[in-house]
Amino acid sequence: MVTTKLPHPPWREQPQLLRRGFVDPSMMLDELSARYGPIFGLGTGPFRLAVVGDPTALREMFSMPVDSFRWGYRFNVLRFVVGDQSMIVSDGEPHKRRRASVKSAFGRRSLNGWIPMIVGQTDVVVDELAMMTDADRSPIDLYRVGRRLVLYIVVRTLFGERFAGRAAEISELYQRPQDYIEAPLTRQLPHPFPWTARARVRADRHALDGLIDEQIAFLRANPSDDPRDVLARLVTDGDLSDSEIRDQVVTLIGAGFDTTSASLAWMIWRVSLTPGLWGRLRDEADDVFGPIEQHTTPDERSLAGLTLANATMRETTRLHPAGVVSPREAASDIELGGHHIPKGTLILWSAHLAGRDSGAWDEPLKFQPDRFSHLTGPQQQLANSAWIPFGRGQRNCLGLALAQMELTLIISRLAQRLDISTSATGIPRPAGMVINRPAGGAPMNVSIRPTRRRSGPDLNLQST
Ligand code: HEM
Repeated sequence: MVTTKLPHPPWREQPQLLRRGFVDPSMMLDELSARYGPIFGLGTGPFRLAVVGDPTALREMFSMPVDSFRWGYRFNVLRFVVGDQSMIVSDGEPHKRRRASVKSAFGRRSLNGWIPMIVGQTDVVVDELAMMTDADRSPIDLYRVGRRLVLYIVVRTLFGERFAGRAAEISELYQRPQDYIEAPLTRQLPHPFPWTARARVRADRHALDGLIDEQIAFLRANPSDDPRDVLARLVTDGDLSDSEIRDQVVTLIGAGFDTTSASLAWMIWRVSLTPGLWGRLRDEADDVFGPIEQHTTPDERSLAGLTLANATMRETTRLHPAGVVSPREAASDIELGGHHIPKGTLILWSAHLAGRDSGAWDEPLKFQPDRFSHLTGPQQQLANSAWIPFGRGQRNCLGLALAQMELTLIISRLAQRLDISTSATGIPRPAGMVINRPAGGAPMNVSIRPTRRRSGPDLNLQST
């Protein structure tokens, strides 16, 4: 097959385009893919980029041998925050070993065991909202509320109950590193100087390591056979060193917390702006969970019954994937979609472009969760290639089952127990280069559907 070079914008336009891309990557991708198609190049020499958003080319890419690509490339800025031994910046045998250990600690059966906790913690949040005055709730930023809830859930699934009480402390230690990796690359250049943003991020990581070490020491002294405690499984059953465990834990919390809460915020926006959808989600929740007053314990059958909530999650992450682009470096010369991509090119594959591809989706810019319930055979195949918010293949998202389960259960329970509305008439613009979240959060007017109060740990929402 004849391969061609990647089309690219004129060199003189590129510095300006890259600058704009750091402020609003989705807008830059939409504009450039309209001009050059869903695969195009940017930059030159050691700073060569290939943006790939064509679903067919992406299917090719995800089925290539995993060693055709590198994640531990020199400029991977995540390394500074997650550590050199994190699976997310590792390749080859070390990646395989680290991923396999975490994966086995994350078995699907153990995840289903978390369903009651996720619904229960959502109830705790609703109960806290109920205790606020109407004025405090109108409006309230449900992005920040959801962020605390998701962090609590992620920490609890990783560390068990004993550590979840420290979620607020962990959240603070993550804030600076998250802000730092969103900063322009010029501000992230390595240096040893104290009293700088980089030094403060290093100190936060050090403090986080201290918390994790405490937990590792506790588990060594008090072994646990709880199949739902991911950290206990890593410490007791795995073959990772303590420093490897630390880097995986920091990665799992980091990868699982901002991504999921950003998706929840987009979901709240989309549902609040789609007439009738909140009511349909509420009806489904009433059917599946039963009346709140009955306190039934939800399980995997409840999750399977939430088909509209699941479709809403899929439709939201199609239009607003948490990663607008995800990077990997070509480890050798490769061909993608009929284009030659030289070794060393940084490939930015885009779930955002694939999710809006007009060949794969009818009316791609319309938010229609029901599209997922009546896809015909060929449409289903196209949708399979083009719905990739969690990646595909051997490096796909390790937390995809947890994230999808959280988003489905949380939106459903919120719809069952809250009324929300917004005076906004349109979806906000996206913010964030690494994590795509709605600019300005998700301020909503919130009122409570009357129910009896439940008890549980205080998430301290008044401080959000
Ligand atoms: C809506 C939520 C989430 C989204 C959209 C998301 C998306 C992604 C994407 C696009 C990748 C990269 C795939 C690639 O490089 O090809 C990834 C990797 C990863 N994600 Fe997620 N993620 C989410 C939640 C989570 C959660 C809850 C966890 C765990 C607690 C998690 C853990 C990971 C890990 C460990 C990797 C690296 C896998 C590897 O390198 O082998 N993610 N995720």
